[in-house]
Amino acid sequence: MFVRNRAFVAPMCQYAIDAGDGVPHDWHLQNLGAFAAGGFGLVVTEATGVTAEGRISPGDVGLWNDEQTAAHARLVAFAHSQGAAAGAQLAHAGGKASTYPALPGFGAGTVPPEAGGWATVGVADAPVLPSLAPARALDADGIAGVVEAFAASARRADAAGYDVVQIHAAHGYLLHQFCSPLTNTRTDGYGGSEANRTRIVREVVDAVRAAWPADKPLGIRLSATDWVESGWDVAANARLARVLVERHGVTWVDASSGGLTAGSAVPVAPGYQVPLASRIHAALAGTGAVVSAVGLIDDARQAETILVSGQADAVSIGRAALRNPHWAAAAASELGVLPADNPQAPQYARSGY
Ligand code: FNR
Repeated sequence: MFVRNRAFVAPMCQYAIDAGDGVPHDWHLQNLGAFAAGGFGLVVTEATGVTAEGRISPGDVGLWNDEQTAAHARLVAFAHSQGAAAGAQLAHAGGKASTYPALPGFGAGTVPPEAGGWATVGVADAPVLPSLAPARALDADGIAGVVEAFAASARRADAAGYDVVQIHAAHGYLLHQFCSPLTNTRTDGYGGSEANRTRIVREVVDAVRAAWPADKPLGIRLSATDWVESGWDVAANARLARVLVERHGVTWVDASSGGLTAGSAVPVAPGYQVPLASRIHAALAGTGAVVSAVGLIDDARQAETILVSGQADAVSIGRAALRNPHWAAAAASELGVLPADNPQAPQYARSGY
């Protein structure tokens, strides 16, 4: 996969679908399209449900049917026309599914079935967060179904033309629910030891790798710590990352954190998750895998320092890209890239970047 620079757009849910059909439309085109026209190397979709029940909210996009696949192809084609690579974040929210869109004017917590929500499945018969309805624990057949759904979505992502898929294993969603000892109370082969808790991740990665072209990169987003004593921590994540890269064909790890607890003390500050990426980067030394850092990387020189100091291979930009979809063009300009080489769309060449 060719990426013109190492500024990636982090996946960001838009909650923009009213019809509940998971089909991306004009909003998603202009959203990802603006990032692509704004010079980013890689634009990544919002968390994209591998099944209807795996969506975070009824307003999320999905990738489980032909209509959705065709609509995704339109997003990809536009990103490519702007010189950006395109990625799909494949997701199953587990017990954090069926929540209200995180937009002004909506409620909080689980959407009940009578209001358009659905009963959720997860790692255990318990709510993932106190504010959510209890999930029903997946049984062995249910886990196999989830694994196959990830693979089927990866096939569709390939058909839509995506250059990379990123498996969402972070932020308290299904795969993270299995990995963390805070939520995984199972006593079968998917619970207990670290090897058991991470089993579903290896199974999903293997199934996606088999369904996804061998020459296309395969990414995963990890919550590198729960920010809680006795939670899922960076040492375990570094071990998992190494196994996934060395034995299961992952080529890109994005190091995020948190999402599983309501009250943990997260030391939010500029670049606060970069040390997590750096730790995983060190664990993957010599493998050739790409590690991206994310989280309050808002400034061009901050981003450049992370890259040139070898803490990470790429930066994922979230809210700063919402504020300025042309963040990458602005960063290039600030860092001395000549206007003729600026990745911004030529239509915007007189923007001053
Ligand atoms: C997010 N984030 C997020 N993460 C993810 O893995 N999948 C997703 O769909 C979303 N959705 C989402 C929506 C919105 C509106 C925001 C602001 C964030 C988290 C995001 O990718 C990123 O990790 C964080 O925002 C931290 O990076 P920044 O914003 O500090 O650069």
